[in-house]
Amino acid sequence: MTKVATAVAHPNIALIKYWGKRDAAQQLPATGSLSLTLDIAPTTTTVELDEAAKADYGTLNGEDLSGKELSRVSKFLDHVRERAGSTTYTKVTTVNEIPTGAGLASSASGFAALALAAAKAYGLDYSPEQLSALARRGSGSACRSIFGGLVEWLPGDDDASSHAVALPSTDLELSLVVAVLSAGRKKIDSRAAMQTTVETSPFFPAWVEQVPKDIEEMKQHIAAADFSAVGLLAECNAMAMHASALAARPPVRYWNSDSVAALDLVATLREEGLECYATMDAGPNVKILCRPSDAEKIAERFRNEFGGINVLISGSGPAAYLVENTAS
Ligand code: PMV
Repeated sequence: MTKVATAVAHPNIALIKYWGKRDAAQQLPATGSLSLTLDIAPTTTTVELDEAAKADYGTLNGEDLSGKELSRVSKFLDHVRERAGSTTYTKVTTVNEIPTGAGLASSASGFAALALAAAKAYGLDYSPEQLSALARRGSGSACRSIFGGLVEWLPGDDDASSHAVALPSTDLELSLVVAVLSAGRKKIDSRAAMQTTVETSPFFPAWVEQVPKDIEEMKQHIAAADFSAVGLLAECNAMAMHASALAARPPVRYWNSDSVAALDLVATLREEGLECYATMDAGPNVKILCRPSDAEKIAERFRNEFGGINVLISGSGPAAYLVENTAS
């Protein structure tokens, strides 16, 4: 009997960031967060149960999974097996159409696709909210990639209630221009960086107090389809996240000199009347929020300014979905 399922999930970029956990074991966040699921750079993952295997195994972009990556995937699958009452190991085949580990949310699309494919292959009949809570165990931000468009992660009180939901539909149209300043692996992984921030940053309590207010305000701006207010608040929130990280001891600094130059260019474009706003995650890359009609012009300016770097343009993307319903 073959139990196999393939799922596709897209990355998401937070407009109000998740930064810090209140429970590391269960991946419960210190606050809620709010994101846009992208329509570029999906992850496709196949989970195939293997009765003969003595451990989980698989590939990421054609290379054998090993070390930290394999143990993270396997730990997640242990969790799925526990829920499904199974002891069968599995082969995991993952293709990421985005540089892995460069602060471009590959862990979000990766664990969302893995959660959906594994739940199906192991026979868990889960709602999107349950799948979201499951994906959270792999990587916090992955819970948001189960849903499409604008998404809120409700911090919740426990494992089951900490999941994402899709926000009500809105007339707001957003594009995100991703300036890939560096596609290398990030130096400090977000888990360790968050923990250092939570434990040592004197600014962390202020961050935790601010985020719920930012989420409420952001939801109002989204409902009113007020692009300028959405963009400005997203930029302010991202800077506040990085401020809390920069104040950690030792400091957590993801920015490099190109990041600062990119933030300068965003400010210049705005002064020129090309309205756009910056956001940054756990890496040096800068993502620019803009109206869809301005995205190509903005991308071109970034390509010119940074010597032909890769610049991606994304719109609002879909919820995670199964490609083959082959579990039996
Ligand atoms: O889920 P993680 O551990 O990849 O955390 C991601 C955190 C940020 O990308 C920096 C912010 C966010 O909300 O996505």
